[in-house]
Amino acid sequence: MDLELTEEQRMIRDTARDFAVKEVEPKAAELDKTGRWPTELVKRMGELGFMGIAVDDTHGGAGMDNVCYALAMEEISRACASTGVIMSVNNSLYCDPVKKFGTPAQKDRWLTPYASGEKLGCFGLTEPMSGSDAQTMNTVAEKKGDKWLINGSKNWITNGPHADTIVLFAISERNPGGKSKHTAFLVDKDTPGFSREKPDEKLGIHAAHSCTVFFENVELSDEHRLGGVGDGFKVAMSTLDGGRIGIACQALGIARAAFEKAVEYSKERKSFGVPLANHQAIAFMIADMATEIDAARLLIWRAATMKDKGVRHSQESAIAKLFASEMATRVTHKALQIFGGYGYSREFPMERHYRDARITEIYEGTSEIQRIVIAANALKG
Ligand code: CAA
Repeated sequence: MDLELTEEQRMIRDTARDFAVKEVEPKAAELDKTGRWPTELVKRMGELGFMGIAVDDTHGGAGMDNVCYALAMEEISRACASTGVIMSVNNSLYCDPVKKFGTPAQKDRWLTPYASGEKLGCFGLTEPMSGSDAQTMNTVAEKKGDKWLINGSKNWITNGPHADTIVLFAISERNPGGKSKHTAFLVDKDTPGFSREKPDEKLGIHAAHSCTVFFENVELSDEHRLGGVGDGFKVAMSTLDGGRIGIACQALGIARAAFEKAVEYSKERKSFGVPLANHQAIAFMIADMATEIDAARLLIWRAATMKDKGVRHSQESAIAKLFASEMATRVTHKALQIFGGYGYSREFPMERHYRDARITEIYEGTSEIQRIVIAANALKG
């Protein structure tokens, strides 16, 4: 594995860093305080090619690889975790399955405008009564003649309040006593019977809106079916293999933001006559943070490289997501500690990083789910 970035990878990282520092970071505190959806940043990310980084240019994307995606995600999330996850959901959870499972006609209609940033996508798997145990969903898709009739609801749908289309998962064959079969669909926001609630109120990532969406006798044709009848669960799981790389990058970006500020502060602030960094208690915290951040990045690059090679990367993505998300919680905890009272104050960014980090251990599979995936792979055969 070559750890040297290619020219293209360095270029996207530098472009993302420049955009993040100049345009995203100055707005991050305001977005967190107001919970405003960053319309202008979503538009700019489309213009810069960040909304479909690994989608080929014939379908509106930037035509780059998943390492490029990881590099850009880290930079954007370092500046603003909310903006990072908006980008991640459109790239990984929406564009990726349409690219992988869509027919040519579906790609023209449901990929090109989304990868270019003209439109926005979201992903509907979780329901009020089924999160980690995703197969036990209640949303149903019944075949009635040549139509599908969809009924149910999905919640915590990131990008949901603003998305033009949702990749929806529903039970298409219920097997009492056995496993049900699921099918994936593409549902546009203006489809009769589709509705959504107001954005959720959350601990962090305030500007990344999520909501509950409802499907009441929504009628769809086979044109809207993504992948084969009964293949929906595999569509969802393989999509999450990519999505987990995105969330690992978000966690890495948040951790880096906290770390960099802690390093700076520990060199400026004095206690007992010397800079904080001169106390070994603080220097060792800095050392642990630096080590963990590097380890997370390498795990992410490994998973992204495997995805680019087209090989199954469920294990590597789960490892990267588990480690990076728990690392972000540890790093933001330590960074806040270094800032002391200022870390706890809403006047300063550290408490935002601390709150934002926490979600990365929950969405796109909790840490416990990642451990289930990792242990199952480690123990098999
Ligand atoms: N790729 C392809 N196929 C896969 C797969 C993968 N990664 N993982 C499982 N499958 C297949 C299996 O091979 C199996 O196929 P067969 O029936 O042909 O044998 C089938 O799917 C069922 O697999 P399991 O029996 O392992 O499924 P399970 O019910 O035991 O669940 C699980 C496995 C890992 C716990 C899974 O339910 C899971 O990942 N749960 C977490 C769900 C999740 O991450 N939700 C996040 C919601 S999205 C979100 O958070 C978005 C946001 O807001 C940002």
